[in-house]
Amino acid sequence: MAAQESQIVVNGLWKVFGAKPDQVFQPEHAAKSRAELQDELGLVTGLRDVSFAVDRGMVFVVMGLSGSGKSTLVRCLIRLIEATRGQVLFDGEDICGYSQAQLIEFRRQKTAMVFQQYGLLPHRNVLDNVAVGLEIRGIDKPTRYRMATETIETVGLKGWENYRPHEMSGGMQQRVGLARALAVDPDVLLMDEPFSGLDPLIRREMQDELVSLQTELHKTIVFITHDLDEALKIGDRVAIMRDGQIVQQGSPEEIVTLPSDDYVTDFVQDVSRAKVVQAQAIMSEPDVVIYERQGPRAALHAMRQHKLDAVFLISRSFTLRGVLTKQQATELAAQNVRSLEGATIDSAVTTTPDAYVADVIPMAAQTERPVAVLAENGSLVGEIGRDALLAAVAEDGQGA
Ligand SMILES: Nc1ncnc2c1ncn2[C@@H]1O[C@H](COP(=O)(O)OP(=O)(O)OP(=O)(O)O)[C@@H](O)[C@H]1O
Ligand SMILES: [Mg+2]
Repeated sequence: MAAQESQIVVNGLWKVFGAKPDQVFQPEHAAKSRAELQDELGLVTGLRDVSFAVDRGMVFVVMGLSGSGKSTLVRCLIRLIEATRGQVLFDGEDICGYSQAQLIEFRRQKTAMVFQQYGLLPHRNVLDNVAVGLEIRGIDKPTRYRMATETIETVGLKGWENYRPHEMSGGMQQRVGLARALAVDPDVLLMDEPFSGLDPLIRREMQDELVSLQTELHKTIVFITHDLDEALKIGDRVAIMRDGQIVQQGSPEEIVTLPSDDYVTDFVQDVSRAKVVQAQAIMSEPDVVIYERQGPRAALHAMRQHKLDAVFLISRSFTLRGVLTKQQATELAAQNVRSLEGATIDSAVTTTPDAYVADVIPMAAQTERPVAVLAENGSLVGEIGRDALLAAVAEDGQGA
């Protein structure tokens, strides 16, 4: 993890609440749990030796139950509360060494935050709420109104500029909160359970929109949630927190397929693997493929040898042409056709390597043949048979 690649690097971060927090670092307390430290010393270990890095343009999700330290972590990242020990680097610079003035400048220029409780100014309309961060940066009124208007459109609230927060639904208010954060075009977006207060359907819609916005914005985002489905949907990487510690971090697929301990297993047991495992993880190389130039007799021979009723046919440019069945090959052979170029064959059911198994399952129902996995250029990179799909789904059941 090279520092110059990562926008945020956190090293050995501790936050201990209470009087004389440094006591927890004394050797005799080193092995004690959070509960023991609280009982014996009256200190709450909000963060315990937390380390991670977030690469530029990535969404890093921190997930954990209530009280696990998520908000403490996100606040320590920009020193809204001061860590007891450890390092926070933004673009390679240790912000713990910043003066108060530098810190304020850093927060304004580089970061923006979205909270669960929206944090909107009740007496200001949407336009003024969204323009707040720009105003603080000293941007003149016409410019900040123009920028705010653009951002309001980005989050789908065009036409609502003159409304007050209380005239809007929770989901809309959170869009205003998001617009306010995006308006200042921060390098880093910190989001502390932004969707937790929303109804499930609105919440899902906001998640989808964040994912789609992010494909254009490429912001570095630290996103806090206590919902695993949300974490897996939004995160490029997910860290799971428990009692102030990160107990596991990895890609969504790693978290679900290789839960590191019982705590994480408990979290993931309800999640369908099919939603996070991709086609490329379960595809196999086809036993046999036929090239157009080979002709129908060669195809029949190969099918007989491999006990298949059909084979994938590959074109001269190495893209997938379709599926050649035994019956088609037999008819073509009877007509003394030499090459399969120009032959009428069936089309294949295809998917891409990054498709989720959950989306491949309904495709498999449309065909007797394995589903063909195609690279972007149309070349066949693998196939997924029923067995592989069944196995993927069956493991799902065992995980519980
Ligand atoms: N100012 C404080 N003084 C003392 N203890 C605190 C303080 N702030 C947080 N804590 C404690 O630190 C722990 C972590 O709190 P934190 O708010 O970070 O949890 P969280 O994961 O964000 O929870 P939630 O999902 O409920 O928001 C809790 O045990 C909390 O009681
Ligand atoms: Mg919190």
